[in-house]
Amino acid sequence: MRVLILGGDGYLGWPTAMYLSSQGNEVCVVDNYFRRFACVEKDVPSLFDTPNLFERARHWQEVSGKEIMVRIGSVADYPFLLDVFHEFKPDAVVHYAEQPSAPYSMLGHSEARFTLENNLLSTLNVAYAVKETDPSIHIVKLGTMGEYGTPNIDIEEGFIDIEHKGRKDRLLFPRQAGSLYHTTKIQDTDLLYFYVRVWGLRVTDLMQGPVYGIFTEEMGGDEDLFTVFNYDEIFGTVLNRFIVQAVAGVPLTVYGKGGQTRGYLNIKDTLQCVGLAIAHPARKGEMKIYNQFTETFSVNDLANAVQRAGKDVGIDVEIKSVPNPRVELEDHYYNPVHTGLLDLGLEPTLLTNNIVAKMLESVIRRKDEIRRDIIQPKTQWN
Ligand SMILES: NC(=O)c1ccc[n+]([C@@H]2O[C@H](COP(=O)([O-])OP(=O)(O)OC[C@H]3O[C@@H](n4cnc5c(N)ncnc54)[C@H](O)[C@@H]3O)[C@@H](O)[C@H]2O)c1
Repeated sequence: MRVLILGGDGYLGWPTAMYLSSQGNEVCVVDNYFRRFACVEKDVPSLFDTPNLFERARHWQEVSGKEIMVRIGSVADYPFLLDVFHEFKPDAVVHYAEQPSAPYSMLGHSEARFTLENNLLSTLNVAYAVKETDPSIHIVKLGTMGEYGTPNIDIEEGFIDIEHKGRKDRLLFPRQAGSLYHTTKIQDTDLLYFYVRVWGLRVTDLMQGPVYGIFTEEMGGDEDLFTVFNYDEIFGTVLNRFIVQAVAGVPLTVYGKGGQTRGYLNIKDTLQCVGLAIAHPARKGEMKIYNQFTETFSVNDLANAVQRAGKDVGIDVEIKSVPNPRVELEDHYYNPVHTGLLDLGLEPTLLTNNIVAKMLESVIRRKDEIRRDIIQPKTQWN
C-alpha cells in the first residue's frame, strides 16, 4: 500500500514509517519540525539527538534498501498538503501531525491558540485533501483515551447505545477532556465524524493511551534510527519520565495521590495497532473507533514498577508525591473496553519487570546527559 504519514518526524511517526516501510509499503513522511522547534524554544531537549528526516530516510535506505519519501511543510498549509496528496497518491493516511502535549496547551494564550489552530486546521485539511483527491483514501487518525476523561461508568469503544425516555440510539461516547490539548482531540473526532456522515469518508480514530518505550525492532540498536525521547514536564509521558528520574537520582514525581489511572501501551504496540487499522479499513461512510492501549495502571503502579526494576539494575529509587499541577481526579473509577484491536490480532507487549529494567539500562548509558532542571512540573492548570 501507499501510506502517507503526517507528523513523520515525531516520537511515533518515525518508528511507524520504518515499521510500515519494512513491511513492504511505499511510505511518504511529512513534517514541519514543529516538535523540534518547540523543544528548542522551551529548552527541553530530547535525551537522544535525532538526525533530520532527510538524513534518517537516507540512513534507513542504506540499512534496509527501502526508500521513504520526505516532504517538509505544514499540514495546516492546505496548498502544500494538496500537492503532497496529488504527488504521492496514498491509499491510507496516518495523521499524527498535531501538537501532542497537554501541558504545552496549558502554558498560556499563545500556546493554547497554536494548539487549537494547528490541530483543528490540520484535521480539516486532511478531510478536504482526501475529498478533493480520492475519497476512498482511508484516514487513520490518532486520538487519545483522554478524550473520554474519567467518567464514573465503563468507557465503551467510541460509541454507546443509549435508551432515553423509551427511545434508543447509538451515539458517540460522552467526552470530557482534562486539558485544552485533549479538547482539540475531541473536536477532531467531531470534525471527522461530521465529514464521514456528510461526505462518506472512511475514518479510523484510534483513542490511544500514553505510550512508553524507546526501542522498536526496526531501530535494531542503531542510534541514527532512534526516535525523539523527551523526559521533561512538557513533552515527556509519565513512564518515560519516571525512567529518567530514576536514573538521575531524582525522586519520582507522583502528582498528588497518584491514583490517576489510564490505559498504557508500549511504542511497539502503537506500530502494531496502526498497522492493523490500515489492514482493516473503515468502509465508505464508516467511522471506526478503537481504544488503543494494552494495560491500565495508576501513577502509583508505574512508580512502584520502576522502583522494583531499579533494584534489578542496582538503583535505589525514591518516590515522592508533589503538588498536582493539573486539575484532575486523583482517585477514581476507570474501566475502559479495549477488545477491538485484540480482535484484529494485536499481540500485547506487556510491562514486565524486564522491559522496565531494559529501559533503565539504556538511559543509564546517557546518565551524564540528563538535564535535571527540566524534570519538575511547572505548568499549572489554573
Ligand atoms: N505519545 C503519546 O503518548 C500519545 C498518546 C496518545 C495520543 N498521541 C497522539 O499521537 C500523535 C503523535 O504523537 P507523538 O507523541 O508522536 O508526538 P510528536 O510531537 O513527537 O509527533 C507529532 C509530529 O507532528 C509534527 N507536526 C505537528 N504539527 C504539524 C503540522 N501542522 N504539520 C506538519 N507536522 C506537524 C511535529 O513536528 C511532530 O514531529 C499525536 O497526534 C498525539 O496527540 C500520542
